[in-house]
Order: sequence, then structure tokens, then C-alpha cells
Amino acid sequence: MAVAEVETPLPTRITAGTGKLPRHVAIIMDGNGRWAKKRLLPRAMGHKRGVETVRNIVKAAGELGLETLSLYAFSSENWKRPEEEINDLMGLMRDFIKSDLDEFAANDVRLRIIGDYKALAPDIVEMLEESIARTSKNSRTTLAVALNYGSQDEMVRAARAAATQGEISVSSIEANLDTFGLPPLDLVIRTSGEQRLSNFMLWQAAYAEFWFTETLWPDFSKDELAAALNEFARRERRYGGR
Ligand code: IPE
Ligand code: IPE
Ligand code: MG
Repeated sequence: MAVAEVETPLPTRITAGTGKLPRHVAIIMDGNGRWAKKRLLPRAMGHKRGVETVRNIVKAAGELGLETLSLYAFSSENWKRPEEEINDLMGLMRDFIKSDLDEFAANDVRLRIIGDYKALAPDIVEMLEESIARTSKNSRTTLAVALNYGSQDEMVRAARAAATQGEISVSSIEANLDTFGLPPLDLVIRTSGEQRLSNFMLWQAAYAEFWFTETLWPDFSKDELAAALNEFARRERRYGGR
């Protein structure tokens, strides 16, 4: 089927109900360190600006009509980083939850956490669980934040749980993934020019579309998200059929 090529991204053209809007977008938010380095700033500043982008993009996702936005915030491999950087990231996480939870509640955002978050500091675990409970009835946008997330670990945990329940099958594994209940993953976006999954949603990405940008995460914007959605709308998905 011929699809008209539209040169300019038209964010306003993207509205829910076109059938071409992805229900579930996942973003690998990469490039905070390089953003800071380019400006001769400490890495922590890059992460700080990255949090501001998270704020803007969560808001944009709601405005653009996305049902679910998943954000890769801290991987199970990120523990390899220097302690100081890990502490900076955890500190930003605490500040973010404290400062933004009211806004989530007001904007009808439901918070989910994927990954082995219970291994984080007890005060963070407590804050997260409170926030999940407080936003559990919200229904406009689901924000799934990946914390201490590694897809291989998630699949092992899911397979173990499935085995204790009975037969191992695609659906029994799926039912035990951290993402259970979220819509199928439609689109994966990665910033900063890297083109890899870095152990993110390996299972869920089976038939997802991919969109890469050179933009570093602190510079990512609603317009660029809209451009990704426009490109997604032009893709033809076949799921192995014809
Ligand atoms: C992404 O930015 C944030 C996290 C992984 C927590 P990076 O810190 O990986 O930034 P680069 O890749 O070094 O530029
Ligand atoms: C992926 O980014 C993890 C997050 C965005 C949280 P990394 O910067 O850790 O990935 P690699 O090491 O470049 O693959
Ligand atoms: Mg990186």
C-alpha cells in the first residue's frame, strides 16, 4: 500500500484513535554523560538535566495520547559504575519522586516499576511502593520506570515462577514478566546514537519497531518524540505474515 510521504513532522496530526499511534513506547535514555562532557560539566549535571527531560517527556506522552511509556532509568549492569555516580543517580531518583509525584497524581499518570527494584535502598523501595499505590487508580498514561532492570534477569525470574506454577509456555512466561498487563511494546527509542538494547525488554521487543536518534537524552524533546511517532505511523508491521 502506498503511503504518502510527509516531510515535516506534524505533532498535531498524531491523535489517539488513528490506529497508527503506538500504544506502548519504551525509551532507552542514553547520553547524559556525553552531554555533560561536551560542556565540560560533571556527569552529575548531565543526569540532572536528564531528569528534566524525563519530566517533559512524561508530560508529552500524555499530551500525545500514549497509553504506556516505559523509561530505562537504571540497568542491572549500571552497578558497574563508580559509587559516586550511583549515589548521584539514586539521589536524583529520591528528589524526582518527591518533587513530581503530585504532578503525576494530578495528570492521571499511573506509576509502575519494572526490574528488581526491591534490591534498591530501603527508603527508595518504600517511596516507590507508596507512589505505586497512590497512583494505582490513574488511567490516562502508565509510566513504567525500569530500575535495576535487566531483561535476562527478568526472563529468568519469569521462567522460574512459571515453572513453579506449572507448564512453561510463552503465555506462562509472559504472565510472570515485570511488564505483565502493559500493552504490547510497539516502539523502542534510543537516544545518543547507540544502536543496541543493552539488556532492555529483549522479550517484549520481539515485534517492536526501532527508532534511533543522535540526540543526547538531555536534549530530547516532545517534537522529536512526535517525529518518532510520525515515522512509526508510516511503518508497515507484518508479524511474520504477508
Ligand atoms: C544514561 O546516560 C543514563 C544512565 C545510564 C543512568 P549515560 O550516563 O549512560 O551517558 P553516556 O552514555 O555516558 O553519555
Ligand atoms: C543503558 O545505557 C541503560 C540505561 C539507559 C539506563 P548504558 O549507557 O548503560 O548502556 P551501554 O553500557 O552503553 O550499553
Ligand atoms: Mg550510556
